[in-house]
Amino acid sequence: MNDVAIITGTSSGMGLFSAIELAKRGLQVVATMRDTTRAGRLRDAASEAGVELDIQALDVVDHESAARLVAGVTAEYGRVDVLVNNAGQGSVATAEQLTMDQIQAQLDVNYLAPVNLAKLVLPGMRERGRGRILTVTSVGGVVGQPFADAYCGAKFAVEGFMQSLAVVAERFGVQVGVIEPAAVASDFVANVERPTDIGAYGPLLDVYIARTSGAFANAQTAQSAGTAIADAVTASDFTFRRQTSDTASAFVGVSLADLDGERVRSFTSPWIS
Ligand SMILES: NC(=O)c1ccc[n+]([C@@H]2O[C@H](COP(=O)([O-])OP(=O)(O)OC[C@H]3O[C@@H](n4cnc5c(N)ncnc54)[C@H](OP(=O)(O)O)[C@@H]3O)[C@@H](O)[C@H]2O)c1
Repeated sequence: MNDVAIITGTSSGMGLFSAIELAKRGLQVVATMRDTTRAGRLRDAASEAGVELDIQALDVVDHESAARLVAGVTAEYGRVDVLVNNAGQGSVATAEQLTMDQIQAQLDVNYLAPVNLAKLVLPGMRERGRGRILTVTSVGGVVGQPFADAYCGAKFAVEGFMQSLAVVAERFGVQVGVIEPAAVASDFVANVERPTDIGAYGPLLDVYIARTSGAFANAQTAQSAGTAIADAVTASDFTFRRQTSDTASAFVGVSLADLDGERVRSFTSPWIS
């Protein structure tokens, strides 16, 4: 039987395109989304591509639903070979503008949900000695960015969790990795949570938003990023960290050898000047 893959957040963007691409490559794809009334775009794309998907409801922050989903998929298909933690949401705000509830919400969707799903699929993968757990993080999981405190905090957290897990899981045949996109043209910007109280930060935020709009004008397409996610799922040369574009690789490279933090600071500071 073909590999069975669960993907989260497939109503739009990279999740949608990676689901289609993986089905085209012959995987049995369980494409999840929190609101299946929004499945129209995915169904249309599947029919255009001539592939079949199993579309199921999952709000990733509901841990009990996630447990039921994984149990149901295991019962129906016998196992889960691949988990793609793709669902996520952005937040544009700096510390003073964020409530603790908003920070918690960012952790819930971008950190705790992937962690919970990884914990749910691990036992079966470990017992079979085979599996892949991939989490779509962001260049913001390596580079802290202005007005992205809560988002980058959650993406850094999930990268740290997965990197720690990876070396232990691989002893049992389970490969754990992260996929880091830079700007991708999807519903992401429209879905970003924004502050209502701009206050003293208004001028900086205006500059940041103008700069970000420029970056998104040249963004990678969601189809291209979705294909890069599918490449990570099916790669024979598995690595822990992958970026979806050269832009993302350059971005991540700024941070990874930045021992005193000055390279990142001088890279991101002009975004608000
Ligand atoms: N676009 C970028 O520039 C960019 C850059 C770096 C990383 N990323 C990351 O890439 C991933 C995919 O984002 P995208 O760009 O494809 O944006 P998108 O089009 O907004 O897709 C995000 C998906 O996550 C889903 N989602 C959000 N909260 C959820 C929840 N609680 N339960 C289940 N699904 C939920 C959304 O579902 P609904 O339709 O129900 O809202 C949507 O399907 C995210 O993890 C994001 O952080 C994006």
